[in-house]
Amino acid sequence: MFADDAPAKDIKTPRINPEIWHNGEFIKWDDARVHVMSHVLHYGSSVFEGIRCYDTKRGPAIFRLREHMRRLMNSAKIYRMDHEFTLDQLCDAAVGLVARGSLEQCYLRPIIFRSLDEAHPAFGVNPFPNPLVCYIGAWDWGKYLGDEAIEEGVDVCVSSWNRLSPNSMPVMAKSGANYMNSQLIKMEAIKNGYSEGIALDDRGFVSEGSGENIFLVHDGRVITPPLSSSLLPGIPRDCVIQTCRDLEMPLAETGLQRAALYVADELFFTGTAAEVTPIRSVDKIKIGTGKRGDITARIQQAFFEITKGERPAPGEWLTYVKEAKSSVAPPSNNGHGNSAPTSQTVPNAIEPEVSESFLTVGTE
Ligand SMILES: Cc1ncc(COP(=O)(O)O)c(C=O)c1O
Repeated sequence: MFADDAPAKDIKTPRINPEIWHNGEFIKWDDARVHVMSHVLHYGSSVFEGIRCYDTKRGPAIFRLREHMRRLMNSAKIYRMDHEFTLDQLCDAAVGLVARGSLEQCYLRPIIFRSLDEAHPAFGVNPFPNPLVCYIGAWDWGKYLGDEAIEEGVDVCVSSWNRLSPNSMPVMAKSGANYMNSQLIKMEAIKNGYSEGIALDDRGFVSEGSGENIFLVHDGRVITPPLSSSLLPGIPRDCVIQTCRDLEMPLAETGLQRAALYVADELFFTGTAAEVTPIRSVDKIKIGTGKRGDITARIQQAFFEITKGERPAPGEWLTYVKEAKSSVAPPSNNGHGNSAPTSQTVPNAIEPEVSESFLTVGTE
């Protein structure tokens, strides 16, 4: 029908953590199954997080764990998911999962979703009769947009799909259902030969990538769209905002027209998966010199040094798993035994200083 040489599958098999945390217990990967009639499969009723754990000189360190788990709890609250887990329990669970496994670096995927009560099945849209479950899985995930992307940058397009409008689906919540919109953006980009798509909001202002926030550099000023442009309050986005303050780079959160992308000196994406990835072209228009710009390089370097624990962060951004190990149950004799839910706090995690940008819509 049409030339179709875009890769259909992610062909790299990642290293996977053999255990999954489930409702307070560690279970084997193979035992983490759901019923095909689960509410989440039919109606998209899940909220989730993506968290990176970095390999540092002090062992694996989970990046901005509490902020991620707090966003997960906020997402659940928005969707009226009255689960029983506390912030400390979720943080402990993530630390425990990494501590019990052997991955020195990994990507953690906590998810809360509406499952199926097989004794009292409910199949309607109404989510309330369906039990809530929480899982955390982990695997080793390389560079999301490709190994070369970090230096060379990526070629992207402006998507023909708009980002969700705030009163249809709240993008402030990281829900599984939002990612149907992301998938449309991503598939269109891939099929047209681009690495990623940038969505506009419902008014035509720049919003974000299918899985990343976006920053623009113009005349030495770093600019990112405000939350009112229907974007996820990204945690790396917040890191870059705070890092710009540290590096004394002027920064603004303000609405951006699509055309501003084309005439930017530099553009880059931020995201837990994408980290800080330069953009070298948009819609086949070269951005700046077509190479990673100086300001992007400085921000990227600071970001990677912070995540590796080699540079002081503006807050307690790393949870060192080995140093927090005493708070989690060791593996049982069979190597995959279940343990009681952990309730202790992560010793070296402190209540984060959350920038206003997490909740405010920014300036226009
Ligand atoms: C749509 C979208 N925007 C932004 C981001 C970046 O934010 P964070 O890495 O904090 O999840 C992501 C990351 O998954 C995303 O999916």
